Amino acid sequence: MTGTTPQGATTEQAAAQWVRGMFGRIAPRYDLLNHLLSFNLDKRWRARTVARVAEILDRPDTRVLDLCCGTADVLLALESRANRPLLASDFCHPMLLEARRKIAGQGLSTPVFEADALALPLADASLDLITVAFGFRNLANYQRGLEEMLRVLKSGGVAAILEFSQPPNAAFRALYGFFSTSVLPRIGGMISGSPDAYTYLPESIRKFPGAGQLAEEMRRAGFSRVDFERMTGGAVALHLGRK
Ligand SMILES: C[S@@+](CC[C@H](N)C(=O)[O-])C[C@H]1O[C@@H](n2cnc3c(N)ncnc32)[C@H](O)[C@@H]1O
Repeated sequence: MTGTTPQGATTEQAAAQWVRGMFGRIAPRYDLLNHLLSFNLDKRWRARTVARVAEILDRPDTRVLDLCCGTADVLLALESRANRPLLASDFCHPMLLEARRKIAGQGLSTPVFEADALALPLADASLDLITVAFGFRNLANYQRGLEEMLRVLKSGGVAAILEFSQPPNAAFRALYGFFSTSVLPRIGGMISGSPDAYTYLPESIRKFPGAGQLAEEMRRAGFSRVDFERMTGGAVALHLGRK
């Protein structure tokens, strides 16, 4: 388990730079494509994530970060539930501009800040909850990503990682594989104007550790009480781990 390797990037720095540039290019079309290509299931996956961490959100004194927040869809759901400003970060400026516009548009007030998930400008043991939805897979170094989450979480704090995964059923996996390698790049490439982004997507999912392996890596990094739940036949998995 190292990290994402887009377009044969040979260093972590090159991988991160490619990922940041790619999200910057698709930022204006990101939400539309998300809803379209997931048949709106993305809303259900995010809602499920919020439900699983609701107990932490409901406590008024908890500090919560939505990491790799992108255009803030998870953050909006988290803040609506918590009913108070949280924190949100991403390393892609155009995505953060979209996030800020949407947060303000809904009359919410979470501040967003630009930061690399591998080097967060936050104190040790300062957060009760970190959520990261469809961002973790894009990190240039997964182990460092887990270590950084552990560093900023308080003892007892929780990390919730929502990511694409491999469906365990062979027939569904084949169908999903066909959709993500044949249909998705065509539609995504056409609408976003960045075909490479939607070629990268299925490729990065294929290379990403399966749900069981990710759980194991979280335990190895130092998380305890790690468990995961598959959604939509295992196309997506939500992992929870506690510091
Ligand atoms: C697929 S989007 C997900 C956005 C949002 N969480 C959602 O659920 O729609 C992945 C996001 O992760 C961000 N990202 C990837 N690597 C990152 C890193 N090393 N540090 C911070 N953000 C990163 C990208 O800029 C992008 O906005």
